[in-house]
Amino acid sequence: MKKLVVLSGAGISAESGIKTFRDSGGLWDGHDIMEVASPNGWSDNPELVLNFYNQRRKNALHAKPNTGHLTIAELEKYFEVVVITQNVDDLHEKAGSTNIIHLHGELFKARSTVDPLLIYDIEGWELKSGDLCEKGAQLRPHIVWFGEMVPMMEKAMQETIQANVFMVVGTSLQVYPAAGLLEYVSEKVPKFIIDPKMPEVSPQSNLYLIEDKASTGVIKAKSMILEME
Ligand code: OAD
Repeated sequence: MKKLVVLSGAGISAESGIKTFRDSGGLWDGHDIMEVASPNGWSDNPELVLNFYNQRRKNALHAKPNTGHLTIAELEKYFEVVVITQNVDDLHEKAGSTNIIHLHGELFKARSTVDPLLIYDIEGWELKSGDLCEKGAQLRPHIVWFGEMVPMMEKAMQETIQANVFMVVGTSLQVYPAAGLLEYVSEKVPKFIIDPKMPEVSPQSNLYLIEDKASTGVIKAKSMILEME
């Protein structure tokens, strides 16, 4: 089976009611990124950080996957699909995708502050001050913050290099190293970019730009991909 690699960003979950980061009214409007999404922010004010992610979790808890997520899951009938997502929500899982790399962590998991290998599921939406790992240390959100390593990047690069088809959905391609993955895709591989506000990408061969939202754009990409087979 050929390999289809999908790189998704906040835009794929927008129609499921989860805000993007950089669109107007997005998550970073009204928030200082470094206060809520950096190791310094965490050491300065852990309550603020816990609360920020509690609100995100509360919002994502009952969110449902949209046609974009569902169509990507359906593509498993035709391809070995690997989803590399910058999103911390679980909508690709809820849609039924089975091979998902979360580059920026997972909202519904918590991690020990003394041992990064101790990772726990969060039931419900709240992670509180005083919630401890088995070694007695405070738990933090299992999120990759600015200034931290991206441990899943190596795996994401390996998958990207092997892609026979590559699809980018709903990302402004502004945050590295994730945005750089497109450069690892082989020249001959068809690349689809789906976004209502097309991010800037350097001209290259086999590039298909679908200026549309995820719910309808992924369906269009699916038809184009299947026609090429
Ligand atoms: P951004 O908020 O930067 O970009 C969202 C993209 O989604 C934009 O290009 C929008 O045009 C597009 N978009 C909006 N509505 C859409 C829809 N209905 N269908 C498809 N696309 C739509 O989000 P990301 O690129 O995901 O990192 O941001 C990357 C990273 O920056 C995030 O993972 C997060 C953030 O800081 C961390 O928190 C570590």
